[in-house]
Amino acid sequence: MSTYILGIESSCDETSASICSNGKITNNIIATQQIHSEFGGVVPELASRAHQKNIIPVVDQSIKKANIKLNQLSAVAVTQGPGLLGALLVGYSFAKSLCYALDIPLINVHHMKAHIAAHFIDEPFPEFPFMCLTVSGGHTQIVLMKSYTEFKVIGQTKDDAVGEAFDKGAKLLGLPYPGGPLIDKYAVNGNPNKFQFSKSDIQGYDFSFSGIKTNLLYFLREQLKSNPQFVEENIEDICAGYQSTLIDMLMKKLIKAAKDHKVRNIGIAGGVAANSLLRSEVISIAGKYGWNAFIPEFQYCTDNAGMIAMAGYHMFEAGIFGKMSDQPLPRMPFL
Ligand code: KG4
Ligand code: ZN
Repeated sequence: MSTYILGIESSCDETSASICSNGKITNNIIATQQIHSEFGGVVPELASRAHQKNIIPVVDQSIKKANIKLNQLSAVAVTQGPGLLGALLVGYSFAKSLCYALDIPLINVHHMKAHIAAHFIDEPFPEFPFMCLTVSGGHTQIVLMKSYTEFKVIGQTKDDAVGEAFDKGAKLLGLPYPGGPLIDKYAVNGNPNKFQFSKSDIQGYDFSFSGIKTNLLYFLREQLKSNPQFVEENIEDICAGYQSTLIDMLMKKLIKAAKDHKVRNIGIAGGVAANSLLRSEVISIAGKYGWNAFIPEFQYCTDNAGMIAMAGYHMFEAGIFGKMSDQPLPRMPFL
């Protein structure tokens, strides 16, 4: 019998639906909310309203593209958390209602575990144990994955997420939200060694990104005193220096974690995994140590339901289901 899992993602500012058909992602429909760029960040109430508008058309399109009927679904996998409560509630309530109406199981998916599950969408798949650096707007973690459903966080940020450091840095440079992709774009033509930013030195596998943002703020204040055009004239070199410092901090810990745990399969996941320098660094480090590097396709790095459907498929196979009394969890623990 065929297994069709509908995946739904609504934890932040993307409303997305996807169908996993017998372990393969057949489509990944994403409605990105543009409204937030006017406000310099995601406005939770506006996100919830946009999810409400988008959820039915997005799911409908995914079902049609997969060429199946609703009553063929085996289960619905949905992001239970972490995320914005109002945004999660839209996807989660919709998923529960659909499960109730179709009398099929609900699968509670952890958003950050799903970012890692994106590695099992396109072959070659990583073998276990797999060490994944999971980097997004809200999280920065090093996760050791021992099987499709066994995850262990071995390091994480003590303050800001690296995506936040990208976005806040971009804001200081006057770039619109989300600034991460723009820093990446400007950095391509910049000299990473022209301006130096301080790196935090936290013990073990943990990170801290709040210092570098403050460092950038003071640096800009100082430079702007003597040259009000400093940012416009140096945007590429500033972005290149700032980006290379952030990526260096990430890579140092990923390498240490992989070496100490004797893991030969390393990867990156989450929105910041779309960063071109991080992608090339992971490949070159793996080459240097004789490890295997895994990087999901762009559309499966930033928030998407393909990763939710894939995580849900493996939970379905392992018989891990939710209950109709379950609720979305904005601060869902990583167990
Ligand atoms: O995983 P994601 O789509 O949403 C969350 O779960 O947070 O990650 C969004 C984050 C934002 O901080 C965004 O600026 C960052 O990913 N991002 C990038 C790039 N593309 C997205 N950061 C640096 N370089 C990029 N190319
Ligand atoms: Zn995410």
